[in-house]
Amino acid sequence: MKILYAASEAVPFCKTGGLADVAGSLPAALAAQGAEVAVVLPLYQKVKEKFGDRLYFECYDYVDLAWRHSYCGLFSLEQDGVTWYFLDNEQYFNRPELYGYMDDGERFGFFSRAVVRMLPHLKFWPEVIHCNDWQTALVPIYLKDDGVREDRFRSIRTVLSIHNIEYQGRYGKETLGDLFGLDHGWADDGTILMDGDVNLLKGAILCADAVNAVSPTYANELKMPYFAHRLDGIMRRCGYKLSGVLNGIDVKRYDPAADPHIAVNYSAADMAGKQADKAELQKLTGLRQEPYVPIVGIVSRLVSHKGLDLVCEVLHDMMELPMQLVILGKGDRKYEEFFQWAANQYPGRMAVRLDYNEELSMAIYAGADLFLMPSRSEPCGLSQMIAMRYGTVPIVRETGGLKDTVTPYEAWRDAGNGFTFANYASSDMLYVIREAVYLYKDYPDAFARLRARAMACDFSWARSAGEYLHIYSTITGQPWPPVEEAPAPAEEAAPAEETVPAEEAVPAEAAEPAPTEEPAPAQEPVPTEEPAPVQEPAAEPVAEPAPTEEKPAKPARKAPAKKRAAAKKPAAKTGRKTTAKKETRPKKGTAGKEKPAE
Ligand code: GLC
Repeated sequence: MKILYAASEAVPFCKTGGLADVAGSLPAALAAQGAEVAVVLPLYQKVKEKFGDRLYFECYDYVDLAWRHSYCGLFSLEQDGVTWYFLDNEQYFNRPELYGYMDDGERFGFFSRAVVRMLPHLKFWPEVIHCNDWQTALVPIYLKDDGVREDRFRSIRTVLSIHNIEYQGRYGKETLGDLFGLDHGWADDGTILMDGDVNLLKGAILCADAVNAVSPTYANELKMPYFAHRLDGIMRRCGYKLSGVLNGIDVKRYDPAADPHIAVNYSAADMAGKQADKAELQKLTGLRQEPYVPIVGIVSRLVSHKGLDLVCEVLHDMMELPMQLVILGKGDRKYEEFFQWAANQYPGRMAVRLDYNEELSMAIYAGADLFLMPSRSEPCGLSQMIAMRYGTVPIVRETGGLKDTVTPYEAWRDAGNGFTFANYASSDMLYVIREAVYLYKDYPDAFARLRARAMACDFSWARSAGEYLHIYSTITGQPWPPVEEAPAPAEEAAPAEETVPAEEAVPAEAAEPAPTEEPAPAQEPVPTEEPAPVQEPAAEPVAEPAPTEEKPAKPARKAPAKKRAAAKKPAAKTGRKTTAKKETRPKKGTAGKEKPAE
């Protein structure tokens, strides 16, 4: 199975949020299960600065976006069994930040266009392109658009993962043709139009072969107006292809027994180190050295959907409890100012750092006892999983992935792995914080067992990767794990095979040799009544011959020495002329061409 994962950020290259963690670890987990995986990212300034000397210059080409005709360099790097591709265009990506520019629409329009147009230069022609959020939402749309004219694009299936539906990529209607190079048909039939605007995410939800929300509960919530930011109707309509695969975390990176970022390592079997980490955290943040007072930690962007209003409302009640509070994060000014002000009221008991700081965040995961995440909505949430891994018991609101990962403590049968509350109400939150604090103080044994249950949870990527492979398999019709070509024992017509239900047996070989007209050898005895459709999954007539012929044969790694020299100057400008594989101009642009598929 050949998967191309398209994202706008990924650890360790560039990060602003949880998407980067997912894009940084899921591809390797897929590769570990046997898939061929490549990832494609923009070549941001930050990436060039930090990884420039490891990048391999592959080639360059030109990409047409409406009337624009722009350079696009292709760099690569191999890591953990995954090929990482970086698309270079200095005008769009050589900037200090990843997002937040007035031309973000154009930047990611270019990126998505380039992902599709640069496919012939990649090491494989993907069977699936997995896109993430609005920044790559145009990929499924461009594939359909190009697919009308070029067969090879129709062979590719698409998955869209929604990490946060709040950000949809909304632009004025006039951008459709002028900026994104799409025919007005896309707006006329409503595919890409929402409330009078171009809405890239909506277009992708409709065009992708499968849509994934990052937790089962979020997948359900997205069908409700409260969570869906006006896309609930579309989500309900697409319920048939919607799934909710829970994210994992990188359990090697987040391992209290080996983590070099924390003061003292520890494990579930020997928790002594955690006590030392607590003392260290208190020292680091100026909290009193009180080993028996629980520390409640918050590591979060300080924005409203993280539920911080609840914390603001009852902060003083919380501080009446025998606890300490440490908050790390930055964001909206109103929260920053309030927390800063509050910290001054409780010297030695409350500490605030308005920052994004990896070291301190790890010190909090390791040194705190409780971890508070009262989110109003939380597609998945990774922090609660990291906290649990470090034996820091989560207190969460039951929404999205928080609900799927934290099960409430039940004293009577000594069960659960954290504390939860359902209503978005500060009194409910305060109630469970109080319960948690007193369990810690008054029933240390029960708390230790609860903590051990939290640490024992398996949040590794292996499970989720398996679920994604299942989705890829469903939309491509390829069985997963791949069925080995049964070396049919000589003359016998392998009787077992006749009984295999058609949908399962066929795709293995049907995928390769153009299956259309020939009467599928294994299959003629079909005894029953229905005519056993050869391949159920795809919307299109399937049977694309391997696209290789059309793929301009890639001389690629011919002259690595020269290329390396080019890559040494990572900024690409210098590399352009030297070894550039000058591609025969990518066919006509997309602007204003014939009407799109549907
Ligand atoms: C977004 C969501 C977060 C999720 C992450 C990764 O940042 O807000 O809940 O865990 O994406 O999918």
